[in-house]
Amino acid sequence: MTRISYLNGEFIDHDKAFVHIEDRGFQFADAVYEGIAFFNGKILDLGPHMVRLKRSLSELSIQFDVEGSNLEAAMEKLIARNDLSEGFIYLQISRGRAPRNYAFPNPPVKPTVVLTVSPLDMKAIQERQKNGVKIILVEENRWSRPDIKSTSLLGNILAKEAAWQADAYEAVYVDRDGFVTEGTSSNIWMITRDDILLTRKTDGAILAGVTRGSMMKAVSGVEQRRFTREELLAAKAAFLTGTTTFVMPVVQIDGEKIGDEKPGPLLEKLVKIYADYIKAETGFGG
Ligand SMILES: Cc1ncc(COP(=O)(O)O)c(C=O)c1O
Repeated sequence: MTRISYLNGEFIDHDKAFVHIEDRGFQFADAVYEGIAFFNGKILDLGPHMVRLKRSLSELSIQFDVEGSNLEAAMEKLIARNDLSEGFIYLQISRGRAPRNYAFPNPPVKPTVVLTVSPLDMKAIQERQKNGVKIILVEENRWSRPDIKSTSLLGNILAKEAAWQADAYEAVYVDRDGFVTEGTSSNIWMITRDDILLTRKTDGAILAGVTRGSMMKAVSGVEQRRFTREELLAAKAAFLTGTTTFVMPVVQIDGEKIGDEKPGPLLEKLVKIYADYIKAETGFGG
């Protein structure tokens, strides 16, 4: 079956979906994106993703009418055209094509809108959830607006590559003052020795993860504050959240064991809470 993608209102053969060389997304990473999951063909958390998309566009003054563009219908059509049941939607909107110049094109040009879908390997995700993952801690070296979901991801890419080279699943940033921020594509949570569930506030130093938000609603009593590398290393347990990460138990940080060898009952419960949430929202799962 031919893979189909969406480009500026058209559904086209994925291998023929091209953006111009002077697109500002290509030249400057002058673009925002969303990563959205679907199960049973149903989009999960569309509302929060669209709210965040609008905020990212607005923070970068990219003029694009999210409401008027009917992205939801386009996403649904793309899922159907690719005959996928569970998968991942990548949505990117760049400022558009214009002769290379740092300043915004004036008058504004038409933003470039891209949608792709790909399958989610649920088996691999569930296997990782069962065994837990290793992470490494790296120096926070990204630009100072990680709250905007922009495609300026070089820092994230380098850190993720370092994690993979170290046979770890994720790299988690620690800022200059020793406070943990987030993963390259996930938010991080910890459970203290006295059973307090902690995650960082959305204080501008992290992306407001949609999965983080859904878990916040599903679990009561979450404390939102910064925590240090030392607190994380001394935690009873830790986990990551993200659209393709789900709720992912962490069992090793920089080669040191955290919690048990395998995710214990606390983490298993949190994994199940999120699986139940997906089931309630989309009907997916046993
Ligand atoms: C830097 C960063 N933090 C957190 C997340 C998790 O966000 P979400 O749960 O919306 O996928 C992502 C997702 O890609 C991310 O890139």
